[in-house]
Amino acid sequence: MSNGEKPMHWVVIGTGAIAQKVTPVLARSRGCTVAAVASRTIERAQEFIATIEGAQGAEPLMLGEAPGMFDGGQENIDAAYITLPNRMHPEWTIALLKRGVPVLCEKPLAWREDQVQAMVACGGCFAEGFMNLHHSVSARLREIARGGEHGPIGALVEVRANRCTNMTVPDRIATRRSHTWAGGAMMDLGCYCLSFARFVTGEEFADLRAHGELAPPAPGEIKQVDGTVHIEGEFPCGVRLRAKCSIMEQEPTHVRLIGTRGEAYCEWPWNPPEDTGAPIEVTRDGKKTTEVVKGDSAFVSQFERFVRQERIWPEGWEEHQARVMETCLEQLGVQY
Ligand SMILES: NC(=O)c1ccc[n+]([C@@H]2O[C@H](COP(=O)([O-])OP(=O)(O)OC[C@H]3O[C@@H](n4cnc5c(N)ncnc54)[C@H](OP(=O)(O)O)[C@@H]3O)[C@@H](O)[C@H]2O)c1
Repeated sequence: MSNGEKPMHWVVIGTGAIAQKVTPVLARSRGCTVAAVASRTIERAQEFIATIEGAQGAEPLMLGEAPGMFDGGQENIDAAYITLPNRMHPEWTIALLKRGVPVLCEKPLAWREDQVQAMVACGGCFAEGFMNLHHSVSARLREIARGGEHGPIGALVEVRANRCTNMTVPDRIATRRSHTWAGGAMMDLGCYCLSFARFVTGEEFADLRAHGELAPPAPGEIKQVDGTVHIEGEFPCGVRLRAKCSIMEQEPTHVRLIGTRGEAYCEWPWNPPEDTGAPIEVTRDGKKTTEVVKGDSAFVSQFERFVRQERIWPEGWEEHQARVMETCLEQLGVQY
């Protein structure tokens, strides 16, 4: 993708919360230039370009009628960063891949295995935006998890993960509760718990169960999304996952790795702070120590790896992620 000299010219698709937060970070990532911004209206794209750091000089584009299409030029685009509502991710990724544009799509890339298979069939390069897994704190947690009997916590027995944020209060973004836009706890937050457990163990689930309760329908909708979900899984090595995600409850987010000799606890696995670093508390044989893991923005690492075509997980990883999402949603009775 990158020739090592010429920066990759990106189009940021969508101008919502995450596009506003991440565009300045994309612009400061090595080998990346924000060349275009695409929105449902050209005025919105222009406003975004005028006000968001790192977007100045980008070309405003309008989202076209069909997925993957823009009105207003796009000749110099090398890659797309999709920040659209979840429902649009698979269609847009596939359409862009068919046009030969590499895609980094915000999570969740897909929620059914066949959607990722269709992406693979297009050829080309695509990745799912689990930026947190690109931060050094995830690398360190994986190291601890795989340390074995003589490692910091002994042999890993259980991964616990919690990602609960109340999205039912009025000022939270409506798409999270929307069935129309494929919101819900699994799509918004549970996907992080599953991907984290798969990342640290390096294994695929042998067994996976999800149960929970539905959220009240979003305003103007009838169908419901999953509101709070409890996930229980088991990997072939015997390690268990116990996770909870919710868009209705507010709880401290964390992961806990439980081993035969102790445990590691981290409150910042999903969004590690750039300035202070992420503390990991390790308790072994009753003795507690804290290590602080610093690293560049998880988003910077994600974009720079994408430019270098460097993967931190094996081929087929996105397909498995979609499969486990599909399994959970099926058990919850939620269908998109
Ligand atoms: N990795 C992370 O840390 C992280 C954090 C938050 C969200 N996300 C993911 O990023 C994606 C976007 O989340 P967000 O919080 O940025 O959402 P958002 O604020 O609702 O933004 C989505 C944008 O998509 C565009 N869009 C195009 N067609 C649309 C339609 N029919 N309805 C609504 N919007 C439409 C809109 O931009 P225009 O008005 O310009 O068309 C809108 O601003 C989600 O998939 C979410 O899971 C990731």
